[in-house]
Formats: sequence, structure tokens, C-alpha cells
Amino acid sequence: MGLLDGKVALITGGSRGIGKAIAQAYAREGGKVHICARRESALQAAAAEIRAHGGEVSWCKADITKVRDVRRLLKAVRERYGTLHVLVNNASILGPRDPIANYPLAAWEEVVKVNLTALFIVTKEALKLMMPQREGSIINLSSGVGRIGRARWGAYAASKFGVEGFTQVLADEVKDWNIRVNAVNPGGTRTEMRAQAYPEEDPMTLPAPDEITEVFLYLASADSVGTTGKSFDARDWLRKSN
Ligand SMILES: NC(=O)c1ccc[n+]([C@@H]2O[C@H](COP(=O)([O-])OP(=O)(O)OC[C@H]3O[C@@H](n4cnc5c(N)ncnc54)[C@H](OP(=O)(O)O)[C@@H]3O)[C@@H](O)[C@H]2O)c1
Repeated sequence: MGLLDGKVALITGGSRGIGKAIAQAYAREGGKVHICARRESALQAAAAEIRAHGGEVSWCKADITKVRDVRRLLKAVRERYGTLHVLVNNASILGPRDPIANYPLAAWEEVVKVNLTALFIVTKEALKLMMPQREGSIINLSSGVGRIGRARWGAYAASKFGVEGFTQVLADEVKDWNIRVNAVNPGGTRTEMRAQAYPEEDPMTLPAPDEITEVFLYLASADSVGTTGKSFDARDWLRKSN
């Protein structure tokens, strides 16, 4: 028996990095996963990897900042599975590492649009499936700079503070529908985004995405029923599970 047998999960940005590792972990535990991203080739490759290990996966090319793409995405999930148990709001962009005094407005708007507004758009559509069935788990990817601000993290940090706030507000709103909503800071993880943020760093000093999936499994599984409005650190779980 897998931890997620019969559960359907949608993971935004599931084509690479942390989102792909979460999709792989969920599929390994018997979950049916649907992934989306903007680049089709990476989605195809990620899906092929999951299927090669016997996992069930489907995918949609979708830009989550576009309401039409998001509606199409949720329609695909509904038509294929008829339900949705877990939403992982993982897709995100870094934006420039400029101080706020020099931060370009267009980049600010783009980062907030992808990291916060698009998360709202996807969540709102997902709630249309979760609320009538009175069950669901929503997991929002946050960041250390979404809890304590640091210089030169600009719109990325502000958007992740927004994600933490969004998590608390929504958790309070949907608790009577048995929908739990939590935030996870993955901590520094060996991905493209991290390499872009810290080009001088040796990536091998960081955990790989597949090493930090424990907390995401917990939050997707029945073990976390009743846990809502909380902020987690994947690194704490890395220590606990070792
Ligand atoms: N890696 C770390 O050290 C770290 C630390 C703290 C927090 N985080 C958070 O963890 C999450 C995953 O990060 P990561 O490092 O795995 O990032 P990543 O390697 O850059 O992957 C980001 C994923 O999001 C997708 N994406 C980006 N914009 C999108 C859009 N508009 N529509 C749909 N998909 C989109 C990307 O695919 P396409 O480009 O093809 O769309 C890709 O699949 C993010 O929320 C990040 O903020 C990461």
C-alpha cells in the first residue's frame, strides 16, 4: 500500500527541480500526478521518467499567469480523474537580485504575477473541485526570505511573504470544508533557480530535490489531516527522516 494510493495531485512547475521531485515521490507512493509548466519538452521528459518507474502521470503545457491556461489545466484534471485531492503550488521565478532602489518595475510585476497572483488563480480554480468534495490539501512553496527579509531579494521575498499570508488566510477560510493549507520552505536545494541565485556556490553542497520530499509526502497524506495554516521547513524533515 502506498501512502497516496488513489489520491490525485496537481503540481505546478512539475517539469524540473523540486516540483519534479515531489511528482516523482507522489507517484512512487501510488498517487496519480498531473504536472504543468511552460516548456513542453521538459514536461515530456519528466513524465517519461515517472512512467519508467511505473508511476501514473499526465501533463499540460500551461502558463499559470494566464487564466485561460489555468482553466484548461483544471479541466484536464477534472476530465481525467474527476477529482483533485492535493494541489502543490510550486511554480515560481526568481527575478533580478537587485536592491529595491534599483529594482525594475516590469520585473517586479512579473515576479509578483507568477509567484503570488498565479498561485491565487490556480488555487481558486482548484477549490472548485475541492470544496464540493469537502476534502483537500494545498501546499504552497515559500522560502526563507518569505519569513525574514534580506537585502537584494526584492519582489521574490515580497511575493513569498505574500504566499505565507495567503496560506494563513485561506487555511482559516476553508477549514470547515476539511481543506488544509500549509506553506513549506524547501531550504537551499540543488536546482536551476538556486544556481541562478547563487552562481558561485558549489551545488554539491546542497541537498538534491529528491532528498527534501518527506514533508511534502506528509502534507499530501492522511497523516496531516487537521494540520492547517502552518509553515514548515523541509530541512527539519530531512533531519527527522535520517
Ligand atoms: N531551489 C531552492 O533552493 C529554493 C529555495 C527556497 C524556495 N524555493 C521554491 O521552491 C519552488 C521550486 O523551486 P525550484 O528551485 O525547483 O525552481 P526551478 O528549478 O526554477 O523550477 C521552476 C518550475 O516552475 C515552472 N514555471 C515557472 N514559471 C511558470 C509559469 N509561469 N507557469 C507554469 N510553470 C512555471 C518551471 O518550468 P517552465 O520554466 O518550463 O515554465 C519549472 O518547472 C519555487 O517556488 C521556489 O521559489 C526553492
